[in-house]
Amino acid sequence: MKYTNVLIEDHEALRKLMKQVKSARLAPAKKEKALKLFFDLLDSHTEAEEMSLYKIRKENEWLRPDILEGLQEHRIAEELMAKIKRTKKRDLREAKIKVLCDYVKHHLDEEEEKLFPHFEKTISATQSKKLQKMYLAIREKTQKHQTEISHGAL
Ligand SMILES: [Fe+2]
Ligand SMILES: [Fe+2]
Repeated sequence: MKYTNVLIEDHEALRKLMKQVKSARLAPAKKEKALKLFFDLLDSHTEAEEMSLYKIRKENEWLRPDILEGLQEHRIAEELMAKIKRTKKRDLREAKIKVLCDYVKHHLDEEEEKLFPHFEKTISATQSKKLQKMYLAIREKTQKHQTEISHGAL
């Protein structure tokens, strides 16, 4: 499988979890479980992405603007996640979760529409394979909870 398709697989799992997190029909306990899995997968995916694809900004000027933008979005999503974990008031917490989901959705769409196609155009097959290996190794190490996408981890 192409390296960016492995990343897109994780994006799809994140989208599914966000759908559950935002669902009006799902029981509160199930929503909390989905949120826990979503945070875990988002952390693991972000770290692995930054240690592989995002690392090439140093050697690839063309990809640099998209990568810098993506990195800023990662930091903002992390800040929002930390704020949600600290928020006790239910309606306020719900509002923050909704904003985070909308924000992450925008980030995933942008990576898939801009960064990944640009990346595939400029990177050699050998380099792409190397980065994919690195990505999967970090995903395996950092994912704490089992989801349908675990890349052989756990
Ligand atoms: Fe990302
Ligand atoms: Fe991503």
